[in-house]
Amino acid sequence: MSANDIQILLNNLQDISFSGKRILVTGGAGFLGSWMCETILAKNGAVVCVDNLSSGRPSNIEEFSRSSRFSLVNYDISQPLEVDGPLDYVMHLASRASPLEFDQYPLEILKSNTLGTMNALEVARKFQTPFLFTSTSEIYGDPSITPTPETDRGNVNTIGIRGCYDEAKRAGEAICMAFHREYGIDVRIARIFNTYGPRMRNDGYYGRVVPRFIDQALNGRPITIFGDGLQTRSFCYVTDQIEGLIRLAFTPGLTGKPVNIGNPREITILDLAKRIYELTRSESALEYQELPEDDPRRRCPDITRAKKMLNWEPKVDLDTGLCKMIRHVSG
Ligand SMILES: NC(=O)c1ccc[n+]([C@@H]2O[C@H](COP(=O)([O-])OP(=O)(O)OC[C@H]3O[C@@H](n4cnc5c(N)ncnc54)[C@H](O)[C@@H]3O)[C@@H](O)[C@H]2O)c1
Repeated sequence: MSANDIQILLNNLQDISFSGKRILVTGGAGFLGSWMCETILAKNGAVVCVDNLSSGRPSNIEEFSRSSRFSLVNYDISQPLEVDGPLDYVMHLASRASPLEFDQYPLEILKSNTLGTMNALEVARKFQTPFLFTSTSEIYGDPSITPTPETDRGNVNTIGIRGCYDEAKRAGEAICMAFHREYGIDVRIARIFNTYGPRMRNDGYYGRVVPRFIDQALNGRPITIFGDGLQTRSFCYVTDQIEGLIRLAFTPGLTGKPVNIGNPREITILDLAKRIYELTRSESALEYQELPEDDPRRRCPDITRAKKMLNWEPKVDLDTGLCKMIRHVSG
C-alpha cells in the first residue's frame, strides 16, 4: 500500500542511518507512528512500539509487524513503563489527536501528554537516549502572527474544549525542558502542523478534515464545512512530515529548540473542499455547519528554522498528496 512512499522516504533519508539502532516509538500503531516504525524498519533499525490501541489500529502495523526487528507492547503510556534495553532513541507520539476526541477523552489526552511524556522521558533517562516529543501547532492557539514562527508564545483558551489537548502539549514541552535541565536529556520538540496521508483514521462527522472530505466526496454525501469555510489550514503530506521528524531527531544542535514541521502552503477549508470535489469528480453538495468552539482562524507554519537547521522543506504539493490519499481511500 505504502511501498512507493516508503521508497521515497528511503531516498530522501539516505544520509541518516538506523542500522544497529533500537528505537522506542510510543503511539507506533497510529497514523504517524506507524509510518515512523515502518521507516525505521525499512532502514534496518529495530522498533519497540508501545501502544494501547486506543486510537491506533492493528491494521496500521500489520504489514511490518512480522519483522523480527519489531515488537509491540500493548500498554498505556500514562502508567510507568519498564522496557528492556538497549535503546538508542525514545520517540513519544502516543496521544489521541483528533478534535472529536478532545470532547470525548479529555483526561486520557491530558494524561498521555503529561504523565505519558514523563514516563517516556524516564525511559530515555534510564537508557541515556535522546528524546523526540511530538508537540503541535495547537500550542499556538490563536497565534499573533501567521505564518507562525516558533517564537510565538501562543494564545490558548485553557478552559475551552480544545484546552485538554493544547495545554497538555504545552505542559509536555515544559516537561521535556525540565528533564533536559535537571537530567541533561537531549530533548527534541517537533511542532507538527496538519498532516495527512494513508492510514489516517476517518472519524466521521467531526474527524480530521482531509479523510472526512474525501470519504464524503467519494460516497456522494454532503461535504460538511464548519463556519464560512474561510478559516485556513496548511496540509503536509505524511512522507514530508516523517522526513522532517527524523531530521529533527538526528540533527545536532537542536536540543530544547522547538521546530515547526509542516507545509507552509495555506488554503481555506472551502478551497480544500473544492479541490477534493474536483479531484474525485464528486457530485456531493456542500453543507455548512456551526463552527466548533475556538476553531483557529488561520494555521500556517513559518518553517524558516526547519529550512535552515534541518535543511528540510516539504516536497509533495497538495494535489499530488490528495491524489495519493484518494487512491488509498478508494482502495
Ligand atoms: N496528525 C497530525 O496532523 C498531528 C498534528 C499535530 C500533532 N500530532 C501529534 O502526533 C502524534 C501522533 O498523531 P497521529 O495523527 O498519528 O494520531 P493517532 O491517533 O493516529 O495515533 C496516536 C497513537 O497513540 C496511541 N495512544 C494514544 N494514547 C495512548 C496511551 N495513553 N498509551 C499508549 N498509546 C496511546 C493510539 O492508540 C494511537 O496508535 C500525537 O502526539 C499528535 O498529538 C499529529
